[in-house]
Amino acid sequence: LPTAELQLNRLELFARHLHARRHSGHKGTYGNVAVIGGATGMRGAPILSARAALHAGAGRVYVLFPEDPLPADSGQPELMCRLAEGYDFGQATLAIGPGLGDSATAADLLARAIASQGPLLVDADALNLLAHTPALQRALASRGATAEPTQHALQAARLLDASATAVLTPHPLEAARLLGLSVAAVQADRVAAARTLAARLQAVVVLKGSGTVIAAPGGDCVINPTGNPALATAGTGDVLSGLCAALLAQGCPPWPAALAAVWLHGAAADELAASGVGPIGMTAGELIPAIRAGINRL
Ligand code: APR
Ligand code: MG
Repeated sequence: LPTAELQLNRLELFARHLHARRHSGHKGTYGNVAVIGGATGMRGAPILSARAALHAGAGRVYVLFPEDPLPADSGQPELMCRLAEGYDFGQATLAIGPGLGDSATAADLLARAIASQGPLLVDADALNLLAHTPALQRALASRGATAEPTQHALQAARLLDASATAVLTPHPLEAARLLGLSVAAVQADRVAAARTLAARLQAVVVLKGSGTVIAAPGGDCVINPTGNPALATAGTGDVLSGLCAALLAQGCPPWPAALAAVWLHGAAADELAASGVGPIGMTAGELIPAIRAGINRL
């Protein structure tokens, strides 16, 4: 790998895909995000993700839960909380996995999400379901291989094969399950692990952890320079998935959306750490307004 290409201190890799708001824009202009997750006992995970999507500019954000009862109060009245069963995904950008659990309902929802028409982000429990369901892996891979490239994707074709329609955001254990390897083997060659998964599943893969690796199906690969151990706290991955989904919903193609999301997420944590909110004790929720500030500064 040409190491010069690995350092993403270059905002131009994604900045041109993040557009200023048009004066005449309305909420429909900025896309719908549906976060699918939140089994009993894990209701907060999709809510954090959805809050991040809202603060990163998505026009409308839904949280679709796999089972009753819906939370009485999500703490964020702008979010629309629904039961996922029977809900028409339409063209929405889906972020599936935070706190989703491993029920049969969860697996059905993942199959429906993979078969849906819009951009797709697969995280957390949905990655674990994917790891033990080869049929879903094949469906995901062919989703990428058969997709009609969008105008945005064609514009981005210089950066990747335009075909990828999905972004996967595994942490090392989730990547290890998908690859059938140990965590130690993944961590010993993170670039190879991310590239192998990207090629196998025809998706943009974000292998998280210190020095997050972003890999495209065609072999492009970048190591993100932002971020610090303030992020080593529960829920920061959920915030990343919501942020990335919001960029996808606003028309950013998968490759620059993944690069931008990881960069902005880490930069927000760096800023909070420098200002004394971290590195010790920063919370995932505190990242959200810092990410919003970062997007508006770009
Ligand atoms: N330096 C830089 N970044 C870090 C560091 C570090 N030392 N530690 C963690 N991070 C970042 C990762 O790169 C990632 O963006 O913090 C985020 C952590 O994401 P996850 O590992 O997914 O953590 P979390 O949000 O708590 O996951 C919630 O989903 O993936 C499952 O098993 C997970 O149940 C848990 C849930
Ligand atoms: Mg996670």
